[in-house]
Amino acid sequence: MAKITLIIASVTATFTYVLAADIVLSRSFPSCGYVGGQIYCSGGDTSPSLTSGNVIDPTLYSLNISNFDGKSSDSMSNQWNKVVPSSPFQTESRRTPTSIVLSDGKRFLIQGGHNMYGNKFSNQSIMYDTSSNTWSKASSYVIAGVGTKQM
Ligand SMILES: *[C@@H]1O[C@H](CO)[C@@H](O)[C@H](O)[C@H]1NC(C)=O
Ligand SMILES: *[C@@H]1O[C@H](CO)[C@@H](O)[C@H](O)[C@H]1NC(C)=O
Repeated sequence: MAKITLIIASVTATFTYVLAADIVLSRSFPSCGYVGGQIYCSGGDTSPSLTSGNVIDPTLYSLNISNFDGKSSDSMSNQWNKVVPSSPFQTESRRTPTSIVLSDGKRFLIQGGHNMYGNKFSNQSIMYDTSSNTWSKASSYVIAGVGTKQM
């Protein structure tokens, strides 16, 4: 009987894989940030109707645009990577959130958005750290008479 040896590769901090263009559905209202030569996009409504749809894709995608110097933008459409964070985190379905890249040049913050159900978000503001491949929620503060907020 043959002997089978399993080789388990070490897991690197950032795990991405390239997706075919037709797998990354077109969408409206994603949250994007340009960090470290990559465009990161999270969320967005993939439904074809802007008024009745609410098909939020919570996946985080990245596009390494340093590979595309001098090429047409069409050549990028099949180069999106699916980012698998190093630990699970529920980003929650968000339509029309705001996003900003933080001054450390590593993280981008996504704030609020509309979840179409009238519910409050568990984590109003969330951050993705491109250097550690992790999501976290922003710290909270309390406004008297209003309640807990995050920023
Ligand atoms: C992006 O692409 C450039 C050029 O191929 C490469 O040097 C760089 O390592 C890539 N960055 C990441 C984060 O994959
Ligand atoms: C909220 O943040 C916590 C970490 O503080 C995380 O575990 C969770 O996945 C996030 N999302 C929800 C919906 O709780």
